[in-house]
Amino acid sequence: MFAKTRSDPVVVPDDAIISIRGVTKQFGSHRVLEDVTYDVPRGKTTAILGPSGTGKSVMLKVIIGLLRPEAGQIYVDGDPVVGVSEKELLRIRRKFGVLFQDGALFGSMSLYDNIAFPLREHTKASEREIRVKVMEKAELVGLVAHLKKLPGEVSGGMKKRAGLARALVLDPEIILFDEPDSGLDPVRVAYLDELVNTAQAETGATFFIITHNIESVNRTAHYMGLLFRSKLVAFGPKEEMNAMDNPVVRQFFAGRARGPISMDEMAEGDSEDSGPAPASPGGGQAEPVGVSGD
Ligand SMILES: Nc1ncnc2c1ncn2[C@@H]1O[C@H](COP(=O)(O)OP(=O)(O)O)[C@@H](O)[C@H]1O
Ligand SMILES: [Mg+2]
Repeated sequence: MFAKTRSDPVVVPDDAIISIRGVTKQFGSHRVLEDVTYDVPRGKTTAILGPSGTGKSVMLKVIIGLLRPEAGQIYVDGDPVVGVSEKELLRIRRKFGVLFQDGALFGSMSLYDNIAFPLREHTKASEREIRVKVMEKAELVGLVAHLKKLPGEVSGGMKKRAGLARALVLDPEIILFDEPDSGLDPVRVAYLDELVNTAQAETGATFFIITHNIESVNRTAHYMGLLFRSKLVAFGPKEEMNAMDNPVVRQFFAGRARGPISMDEMAEGDSEDSGPAPASPGGGQAEPVGVSGD
């Protein structure tokens, strides 16, 4: 019923690069996402917020076709993701760069080689062309002086920046960020947010961030949505979300203990599977290096 094929007519608002329509995802009887619908505007930064364990990472995996929802459809540039061939999925995934929660860098490769990796893996670019691209992205994220270092020799903030440069290196239309603030102190988060804004303005790409850090995305996001108990409670421009009366939105945005969100829901218990996704352009498979402070 929901799983359409490419030949079905698709109605997508002009400015939406990703359209999520009635997506329901469950594991056994545990319904993680229920009937979630929203559009991610093209060329802007959009953040989906929610307490830990509300299905933010699952949402991201559903969008790139690593998990298949029980109901609903996702369109990327008007093309359906659910129910399509593996070949079509690979084509769609090339539109995405992903910055995983832990940076997912290869520990035995220099930052240069980490950033170059997607180019070597997915293009026939010469080493000279690779160098131009890597230096361009390294400059954007401020890593030019550190490219010979191994991930183990640099700070958590630098690992994130290298992960961002790698996510950007194929010039994807959409960059996905899974909890970009994780493992960073508040000052480094603020620096990373500035970098996210610079990179977004410079590339004009669509940035899509999933996080529970409201303070951080208030600095970066143009649009925000809030997930709570499997549902999308609200979605809209940042200003509207900040002015909204909804008690769940108010509590989450204010970070208050009192309100509909209980302590269990705010617990830091976390998702197992936040490692690299093998099929995505920015992902790696071996030896992901965690970002655990500096
Ligand atoms: N592959 C999986 N199999 C079973 N349950 C899963 C799987 N992935 C995630 N979950 C469950 O889905 C819920 C949401 O997880 P997740 O999306 O990782 O939360 P978060 O919002 O913290 O990113 C959690 O209860 C998690 O245990
Ligand atoms: Mg997560």
